Amino acid sequence: MQIVTTLAELATAREALAAPVGLVPTMGYLHKGHLSLVRRARDECATVAASIFVNPTQFGPSEDLSSYPRNLDGDLGAFEAAGVDLVWTPTPEVMYPPGFQTWVTVEEVTKRLEGERRPGHFRGVATVVAKLFNGVRPQRAYFGQKDAQQVVVIRQMARDLSYPIEIVVCPTVREADGLAMSSRNAYLSPQEREAATVLYRGLAAARAAFDAGECDAEKLRQIVADRVAGEPLARLDYVSCAHPDTLEELGRGSPTRFSGALLSLAAWVGNTRLIDNVVLEEERVRDPRP
Ligand code: PAF
Repeated sequence: MQIVTTLAELATAREALAAPVGLVPTMGYLHKGHLSLVRRARDECATVAASIFVNPTQFGPSEDLSSYPRNLDGDLGAFEAAGVDLVWTPTPEVMYPPGFQTWVTVEEVTKRLEGERRPGHFRGVATVVAKLFNGVRPQRAYFGQKDAQQVVVIRQMARDLSYPIEIVVCPTVREADGLAMSSRNAYLSPQEREAATVLYRGLAAARAAFDAGECDAEKLRQIVADRVAGEPLARLDYVSCAHPDTLEELGRGSPTRFSGALLSLAAWVGNTRLIDNVVLEEERVRDPRP
């Protein structure tokens, strides 16, 4: 496994890579979710490239950039064991040289949900992912469904900026009790870790109601909110039942056929903000619009 840092090193290494190249972008502190992306890339591509970069521009001023968990040696070992061929570990100066002033802004789909609550977050994500794409020039790039809005934003960006890259989305990997794997789970105390299962329990309860015929988006949101309200250590930030591509909120109204809905939430568990989602794969969700 080759490890490169500078753009010059990356360019030289890139020349020798067999196509198709699959890219797994990460911020490190790897868990089984990341490694499932590597496995999928390994299955589908001649070469697997990965990146490790804690991207400062996607953190807000009051967010956890300085405390974000890091474990470079462990991550490199895990990538090597998983069969990664090339790892790019740029420094902040490589990604954002002095005088940096060019940004990628995806407009509509960043206005809601995470984008509304974390101003500038998706500008940072889209910009760094564009730079990762430019540096590695993969044929495919792998992302987890756990960050559902990120996937929508990156798909939109890849389409709008004509990147010849297939965006591959892999299922959320969960702990045995349902908690979605996340590097931020490391922040949770044992009691908070237990309480954090309420996110998925809420989503699963709403999905069960949906599967049993409940097609009122507001009722589905309420089921999630009620569950989270029942956990004293958790505080709901938002729950959304939205169109999976536009992320527009669905509501009461005349039934309209849909290809699916994204049921997502963010909640604080102690001082840790967690997100999770499930996709409701059905046409029964009602559209608020006439
Ligand atoms: O999902 C992540 O870990 C990050 O947002 C990404 C895509 C690596 C960009 O920094």
